[in-house]
This record gives sequence, structure tokens and C-alpha cells, in this order.
Amino acid sequence: MSRREVEPRVEVLLDPDWASGSLVDDVRRGLGGRPRRLPPKWLYDDVGAGLFDEITRLPEYYPTEAERSILVEHAADIAAACDASTLVELGSGTSDKTRTLLDAFRSPERPHEPLHRFVPVDVSDATLRGAAATLSRRYPGLAVEAVVGDFTLHLGDLPRGDRRLVAFLGSTIGNFYLEERAAFLGALADSLEPGEWLLLGTDLVKDVDRLVAAYDDSAGVTERFIRNCLTVVNRELGADFDQGAFSYAPLWDARMQRVDMRLRAEEPQVVTVPGADLVVELATGEELCVEISTKFSIDGIGAELAEAGFAVTETWTDPAGDFAVTLARRT
Ligand code: SAH
Ligand code: AVI
Repeated sequence: MSRREVEPRVEVLLDPDWASGSLVDDVRRGLGGRPRRLPPKWLYDDVGAGLFDEITRLPEYYPTEAERSILVEHAADIAAACDASTLVELGSGTSDKTRTLLDAFRSPERPHEPLHRFVPVDVSDATLRGAAATLSRRYPGLAVEAVVGDFTLHLGDLPRGDRRLVAFLGSTIGNFYLEERAAFLGALADSLEPGEWLLLGTDLVKDVDRLVAAYDDSAGVTERFIRNCLTVVNRELGADFDQGAFSYAPLWDARMQRVDMRLRAEEPQVVTVPGADLVVELATGEELCVEISTKFSIDGIGAELAEAGFAVTETWTDPAGDFAVTLARRT
């Protein structure tokens, strides 16, 4: 290690039994009730994180490259408009696209004090540690303070001290249900001081065939990603979900403007989940709602941000108008 390289700090906010304890609550509430749902954070064990990474390189999955192109084109504008000196990234994953932002925020041409701290936050421990180590090596002098945490629980526990920009990229905000999204944006606003910043990536409504293809790829990677939730519940809670008894059924919900990724029971079945003390009876055709991916309009994003307590500074899109990146400020 060279003299200026510093090991990333990793703070763990998740309880040691989070994967089992919090999953028990979610499974009881989500699979015990109707519609039968599971929060998408359970998709990202090591296998799921690897599958998501594969998804980002699929020809049908346009959001990653669309957002990257906006960041490449406009990172310098974002860094000039925003005077933050700490970058917090929620659901940071590999932080691959984030390098474009870090480069711009640390550029000597930026008209503000250089960014000196990066705080990636993710539930996926191994992915986060890998990304933090890579970024520490790449940016000597940048304090990397990774947080293994849940952005639905730990927003109030994130490092403070100097002016922060919170980046929430990839359109991960689209994975919340409508009421959860409003609650999340409100909690995020509450956790920030007036004048602090949000950079939000959102996938935009477009041709339905392209939207559905992005979640029903020909290589079947998205299907494996969605099915992985059954493997997680089997492993963590001793359940006996049989993958062969379900089919993958993604659909576009035009009313809610979202792709809905479901697993449909192909036969009547009784699934036992001993770790959650639960027995789930499923009729043929009954569905488990594993993940939604809501798509947005630029006006809609502005209205939701205003409602939560943010004022939009600027929104950038890619030339095709597929994706938007919005810089907003806590009022
Ligand atoms: N920001 C990256 C990764 C998006 S995938 C990109 O734009 O490509 C979504 C990421 O959010 C995954 O890394 C997943 O582990 C993380 N995640 C999902 N739910 C989370 C939660 N409740 N709290 C923290 N991280 C979460
Ligand atoms: C992380 N999130 C924004 C992805 C999405 O597009 O909704 C997750 C995903 N699910 C299936 N493919 C990608």
C-alpha cells in the first residue's frame, strides 16, 4: 500500500441476525398477507448481487448505460452546481457509474472545495466491501466510509458533519411501492439539513415492449434474479419452495406505470416456512409479487420531490429520453 492510500472504513449497521430476523418479519407480513409480497432487498444475497451485475450488461436492459451516458455528459455540470464535500450513495452496489461523479467532484476545475469523503451504503456486504476497497485504491486521499445498512431503516444514522450530496442512482427508487416511495423521500428529507443535496436517477416511461423486454430478457437472467428470492427464503428460513412449481410472470401495469415481476404458482401447493412459523397455501395461478420497477415522468418526479421537501435544481436526460438524473436541494 502506498503512503497516501487508506483502507476503507466499514461500519455495519445491520444486526448480525438481520438476514434471518428481519426476513422473518417480512415473510410473515408479506407472504402471510395478500397480495403476497416480498421486499426486493432480499434479492441481493451474493448470488443475487452477481445476477444484478449481469443484468446491467444485458442488451435488453438499457437503464444502466442510459444513466451512465447522462453522468458522463453532465457530471461536471452536477459537480459545479452542487457544493457538497461528502458524497453518500444509497444502494451503491458496485458504485461503477459513481466513478464518473467522483472524478468530476474531485476535479481541480470544480469551483468548490474538493469532495473529501465517500459513503457508499448497501445491504449487500460483500459487494459493498469490494467496491469500497476498489474506490479507496483508485482515489488516494478520499476517505471511503462504507456503511452496511438498510436505506429503509438507517437514513438517520449516516455520517454527518459537512455538506452532503445523497446519490440514489439506477432508478432503485422505482422498486418502492407508491406509499413506500413517499415515506422514503420524506424520511430522506428529514435526515438532511436544509441546503444539502439529492441526485436521483429515474427510469422514464417509454414503449411498453422495450420496458417488458428489459425485465424478460432472452437469456433468462432476470428470471433467475427474481427466482433467487425463493432460494433465499429456503436457505435462511428452511422453507420448501419448489422452483419448478412456479413460472416467471412479468407484466406492465399501465395504471401504476410499473413493471411487475411475479412468480405464479403452476399447481396448488402448500409451502412451509419453519423459520417464520408459517404455512402458505397457494392455489394454481396465485402469484407472489417479488419486485416492481416503477417508471417516471419528469413532471411527476418534480412533484414528488417538492411534496417531500426538495426543490429541483436541474434535470438531465439522455438523447433518447430514456432516463433522467435530477439534482435537487433540501429546502
Ligand atoms: N446503484 C447501483 C445498484 C442498483 S441495484 C446501480 O445504479 O447500478 C440496487 C442496490 O440496492 C443493490 O446493490 C442492493 O443490494 C441495494 N439495496 C436494495 N435494497 C436495499 C436497502 N433496503 N438498503 C440498502 N441497500 C439496498
Ligand atoms: C435496482 N433496480 C433499479 C433494478 C430495476 O431495474 O428495477 C432491479 C432489477 N430487477 C430486475 N432487473 C433489474
